Amino acid sequence: MKILVTGGAGFIGSALAKRLVTQGHTVTVIDSFNEYYDPSLKRAREKEFLSACEVIEGDITDAQTVEKLFAEHSFDLVCHLAAQAGVRYSVEAPEVYVQTNVLGTQVLLEAMRKHGVKRMVYASTSSAYGMETEVPFVEDAAADRPVSVYAATKRSGELLAHSYYKQYGIETTCLRFFTVYGPWSRPDMAMLKFAQKMTAGEAIDIYNNGDLRRDFTYVDDIVDGFVKAVETPLGYEVINLGNGSPVELMSFVQLLEKELGVKAQKNMLPMQQGDVFETYADTSKAKELLGFEAKTSLEKGIQAFTNWYIYCDRSQY
Ligand SMILES: NC(=O)c1ccc[n+]([C@@H]2O[C@H](COP(=O)([O-])OP(=O)(O)OC[C@H]3O[C@@H](n4cnc5c(N)ncnc54)[C@H](O)[C@@H]3O)[C@@H](O)[C@H]2O)c1
Repeated sequence: MKILVTGGAGFIGSALAKRLVTQGHTVTVIDSFNEYYDPSLKRAREKEFLSACEVIEGDITDAQTVEKLFAEHSFDLVCHLAAQAGVRYSVEAPEVYVQTNVLGTQVLLEAMRKHGVKRMVYASTSSAYGMETEVPFVEDAAADRPVSVYAATKRSGELLAHSYYKQYGIETTCLRFFTVYGPWSRPDMAMLKFAQKMTAGEAIDIYNNGDLRRDFTYVDDIVDGFVKAVETPLGYEVINLGNGSPVELMSFVQLLEKELGVKAQKNMLPMQQGDVFETYADTSKAKELLGFEAKTSLEKGIQAFTNWYIYCDRSQY
């Protein structure tokens, strides 16, 4: 298939684009290489993962750029990962989230409608469930009480995709990712941020005094599930992609300490605005519809992360 990957220089998008090429697809990437975090990490991923892809530096909220892109290619499917990610920054700059995650998604869907592209796989988030949802999170829970602007805008993307399905038959599988981690990860996420601080001898911020649980999911498992969704037309669906076994934040820190061989200094802080206490995926729908099951234990995943972290050329980014 001819596939467009938006956000393809990002942490998950770059790994996905490479896998799709390996599976014989022709992949075009669009990414703005914006400065939310150091763009040289995105350039380094481009070198490492995207050598067999066409890479376009462009903004998905720019309708002219997107129109030109769709006019010049005949895509069969869009993997939509470009987003303003991160719960914390959405407190500081909510407008960026609305612009990228809502307008950007609508611009893409409109180009798909105009150019007859019939399928999208959309990177959504466990944040869509909010604070009040019972664990484990099941896809048919209401998901209409978002805690953060990030969650509200990502959920809006799911809803926009549904309206394009009903009106124009554009099929979208929305994959709700649960805390993705691994090599080449984002510097604003706990794993890389903690590793950088711990190895520099600086204290790490622990929110809610460590009383948080996260369903950490290894990036290769997410890519496996994403590729299965690409291969499986389902009409419109929302599916959790998670590990299905939440871990206490402090156990996660201990594993990281063990693998890095460093004891963490900790700033114990209250709960932060926009955050949730626990994420926990019910993965039965992913298993049933996609044959997906996460394979990587947190121990193995953290080992792979630290191997990358220790040996990567951090002088570049
Ligand atoms: N990492 C996680 O744990 C996680 C969890 C849930 C959902 N997600 C979702 O998965 C997707 C990928 O996340 P990631 O962790 O790889 O983040 P990332 O920030 O590394 O990747 C996103 C990419 O999108 C690009 N981008 C941002 N705005 C753009 C725009 N207007 N036009 C074109 N490109 C733009 C960025 O430059 C970046 O390279 C996002 O949609 C995110 O919401 C991630």
